[in-house]
Amino acid sequence: MVQQDVLETFKATQRVGWAFFAPLENLTTPTAANLVRFAGVRAGQTVLDVGCGTGVVAVTAARKGARVAGLDLTPELLERAHENSRIAGVEIAWREGDAEKLPFGDAAFDVVVSQFGHMFAPRPEVALGEMLRVLKPGGTIAFSTWPPDHFMGQMFALFGRYLPAPPPGVTPPPLWGKEENVRAWCGGAVKDLSFERGVMLFPALSPGHHRESTERTTAGGRKVVELLASDRDRMAAFRTEYHELVAKYLEDNVVRQEYLMSRATKV
Ligand SMILES: C[S@@+](CC[C@H](N)C(=O)[O-])C[C@H]1O[C@@H](n2cnc3c(N)ncnc32)[C@H](O)[C@@H]1O
Repeated sequence: MVQQDVLETFKATQRVGWAFFAPLENLTTPTAANLVRFAGVRAGQTVLDVGCGTGVVAVTAARKGARVAGLDLTPELLERAHENSRIAGVEIAWREGDAEKLPFGDAAFDVVVSQFGHMFAPRPEVALGEMLRVLKPGGTIAFSTWPPDHFMGQMFALFGRYLPAPPPGVTPPPLWGKEENVRAWCGGAVKDLSFERGVMLFPALSPGHHRESTERTTAGGRKVVELLASDRDRMAAFRTEYHELVAKYLEDNVVRQEYLMSRATKV
């Protein structure tokens, strides 16, 4: 059993790390439309977006006429989410909170979605248990995740080689990108589990441009830079490895990233 205070410290670090993610909403905006389509969101439904960040999925669902709530750990991203719903002219109930302890009643939503969000909660069975608890029986759960064997998964593995190990009991987020894990974690709580693959595109002028953006905007990238600031050799080694990795996926100024979408019905 992982100690609760260790997990709270881990989440507090995550909250600080994700505070600079807002510029990447341009990249997750097209995939948000794909997830909302995949989840079959319709006007009048109640929808929860878990790990909503700046709210790209929530706003997309609200523009379909759904009644939407968005929850995220990071207050800086929720500030931008407020701005996004105001600009789009939709009403969304934004909440600061933790995917592992959702501040909603049982069976409150017709649809629960997460785009590259709940995968960062440390314990899959806890986050998934919460997402299913707040979903009505017969309701739809749908989420997008990055797999371990493609660019983002490899990037997280690279961060891991330069950062201290996470506390025991923290599951690596890209494990959510494997169908067999999703199937095992869902167990008998759902039926009609199905999968679809999507592709997201990250424009980048060079491997260095991609790395600079990652070092500025992502929790892992920021942590690596902070940790290696006084170790020039290790920083150079990290950057060389990063350039080699991204170069494998960069073609015509675009990094092509595959991802997994999972969808199921709560029994
Ligand atoms: C890669 S971003 C995705 C944001 C947004 N869904 C999108 O597609 O643009 C990951 C998000 O997960 C949030 N997050 C990480 N751990 C969380 C947790 N335990 N509970 C709720 N949100 C969490 C971060 O604050 C961040 O907004």
